[in-house]
Amino acid sequence: MISDAIFADSFPTLQQKIGGKKLIYLDSAATTQKPQCVIDAVTHFYEHDNANIHRGVHTLSQRATQAYENARVQIANLLHAPRHEEIIFLRGATEAINLVAQAYARPRIGENDVILITEMEHHSNIVPWQLVCEQTGASLEVVPICDNGSINLEAYKAMLSEEVAIVSMTHVSNAIGTINPVKEMCALAKAVGATSVVDGAQATGHMDVDVEDISCDFYAISGHKMFGPTGIGCLFGRYDVLQEMEPWQGGGDMILSVSFEETTWNEVPFKFEAGTPNIAGAIGLGAAVTFIQELGYDNISTLEHELLVYGTTTLGAIDGVTIIGTAPSKASVIAFTVDGVHPHDVGTILDHAGVAIRTGNHCAEPLMKSFGLNATCRASFSIYNTKDDVDKLAVAVKDAIRMLG
Ligand code: ALA
Repeated sequence: MISDAIFADSFPTLQQKIGGKKLIYLDSAATTQKPQCVIDAVTHFYEHDNANIHRGVHTLSQRATQAYENARVQIANLLHAPRHEEIIFLRGATEAINLVAQAYARPRIGENDVILITEMEHHSNIVPWQLVCEQTGASLEVVPICDNGSINLEAYKAMLSEEVAIVSMTHVSNAIGTINPVKEMCALAKAVGATSVVDGAQATGHMDVDVEDISCDFYAISGHKMFGPTGIGCLFGRYDVLQEMEPWQGGGDMILSVSFEETTWNEVPFKFEAGTPNIAGAIGLGAAVTFIQELGYDNISTLEHELLVYGTTTLGAIDGVTIIGTAPSKASVIAFTVDGVHPHDVGTILDHAGVAIRTGNHCAEPLMKSFGLNATCRASFSIYNTKDDVDKLAVAVKDAIRMLG
């Protein structure tokens, strides 16, 4: 088990009071808090090694380059990627999916092609595909979910055909926590010749992800949802696929040589990293990877599963509370509504009790509509949460019902 000592003081933001009450942070699906080691890695970079990468013979540039490239290797190891060149640093999962949509899909698809996504996607895995459909004439089709929030696998199988060029699915739903059977879904996609894209933004902070085992073509991750800084994330892409692709953006680092007549591209992954990247962010993400590996995904998953079970039972027992999304395979996200009280009002009352949850449509408006809702309350847990946090959440929800219900 994770001992309290490992992270007693690891998260400075959590050592504070909100309105005189101890902060209970239950919004890790929006962004996780940052451990001291990540903050220190970013600070160390700016205090000691700050320089641009891949373009200097001086010591600082070499140190910065080394630290940045070490982070790439760390992320490749974390994701079990066969080669570190398969990791492209980007701003986050959103940018990673947009890169795939524009640099991979757009030149390869046309009006006879179908792009399949699921009903539980958040906007970052919907809108990039809508844009590419407008640009190419391809059609976007949506795999429905079951009442409990699981993917409807039978419908998915029925929708797969040779017209399907791309399947893009979330690994873990940000809004309701469902864990999708991505390995099976990618294998089914491959059987009809479709390229698979997995949005792993909500997965890598919580569970071991093995891109080789999943056998996806692309996998997108978001640094700030796995204890890393904001503004950094990665795309894993299969090496042969990345090599076939043309660059997405032009600028420094993605070129080999430039003349006004002709420009040649740098090799993978640099071909996709135009301009000075978020060097400090990548180094901070590397520190987050070390932090996760020291904790161990087994410990993280065990703790979070206990919180999920305890939270579901505790909140579910409150009169007037309905849990939204009850798939058998779930990450530590509990979405709920409170009879007669708008989610934003619940959120505001909880904030007065020091309890931070997210309320609204969770950037997944179509999913909310499929449940007949405009908004929910969402408590999402991470390793710094305890059963006591769940109890405080439950007390605050009961107070909200007493005041407004
Ligand atoms: N997608 C993020 C969330 O779920 C922003 O809160």
